[in-house]
Amino acid sequence: MKEKILITGGTGYIGSHTAVELIDAGYEVEILDNLYNSKAGVLERIEEITGVKPNFHEVDLRDAEALAKVMAEGGFGTVMHFAGLKAVGESVEEPLRYYENNVGGTINLLECMQEYGVHKMVFSSSATVYGDPGEVRYTEEMPAGRELSSPYGRTKYFIEEMLKDAARSDADFRVTILRYFNPIGAHKSGLLGEDPNGRPNNLMPIIMKVVAGEIPELSIYGNDYETNDGTAVRDYIHVVDLARGHVAAMQKLDGGERVQIYNLGSGKGTSVLEMVKAFSEAAGVALPHKVVARRPGDLAEFYADPSKANAELGWHTEHTIEEMMQDTINYLRKSGVEV
Ligand code: UD1
Repeated sequence: MKEKILITGGTGYIGSHTAVELIDAGYEVEILDNLYNSKAGVLERIEEITGVKPNFHEVDLRDAEALAKVMAEGGFGTVMHFAGLKAVGESVEEPLRYYENNVGGTINLLECMQEYGVHKMVFSSSATVYGDPGEVRYTEEMPAGRELSSPYGRTKYFIEEMLKDAARSDADFRVTILRYFNPIGAHKSGLLGEDPNGRPNNLMPIIMKVVAGEIPELSIYGNDYETNDGTAVRDYIHVVDLARGHVAAMQKLDGGERVQIYNLGSGKGTSVLEMVKAFSEAAGVALPHKVVARRPGDLAEFYADPSKANAELGWHTEHTIEEMMQDTINYLRKSGVEV
């Protein structure tokens, strides 16, 4: 019997895909989520794909008592920690709520893990912790925490630092920090995908709303960057590749360094215009768009150097941009959107 894993934020976009990959790899998973930005129906979707419906706890990480109950009864070997708020603009408006949820929630989680003897964690971090490093290909050795563009980004950075301190003080604690680039796409089945509550901020969810007719057109934030076509370049990674990166990272948690950090990205940059073109081709319809001013805080270009994860985790991205688009369209169609 493989160990049991608690997934915080497990009904969310990345957490749910990771739950599927873990179940497929033979692990028993339990999901904890406050359903603030996800739906309980995801649990049935996971069951439809894997044949297994994970045990679910509707718990907020800020509720230490409820969390302790889950941890006391769980017998978990590892916690995969996805739960957190992630809207960049909102974090500027309401920074304390972000610190309370993300940092405060993680403190509760770590205290609880300590109390109930759970020593291993995989943490969802973000390439945003690199700030504005002045280079475009990010390696894990580059300094993090400088010139971060939002309170959201700072919560990720502060949590990383907190995890390092926790590991310094506890010889048994093992944590792997995964810095994501830009996850997009959906599960092949079309049953899981990105479905944020409220108005989205990220490129793909906005494109999805344009196709669904809920937003009239995509606003491209700037075409005067120093990139090939003037639009900003990012490293898009298929969410299933990202989920598999978590499984690989978790399998390497035992032994080794107390803290490990990996970039999870494809290593390839794609511009906004290239994304629009790829989506239109996959959907067979033109995507309405216009160019507007740059978005404050956006960088012109960055992508991962994924070689550390490639070499040490034996993990590589497998999906192309075309597959990311096809899977997104399949998900939209299964959700009832005509495209
Ligand atoms: C953003 C956040 C980052 C966060 C990440 C995941 C900012 C400055 N950065 O990254 O901190 O970790 O989301 O939540 O908010 N774009 C458009 N039009 C749109 C939306 C996006 O042209 O309507 C462009 C952006 O300028 C960017 C690219 O599409 O070049 C991707 O944008 P997005 O999905 O928001 O991700 P990031 O900006 O990379």
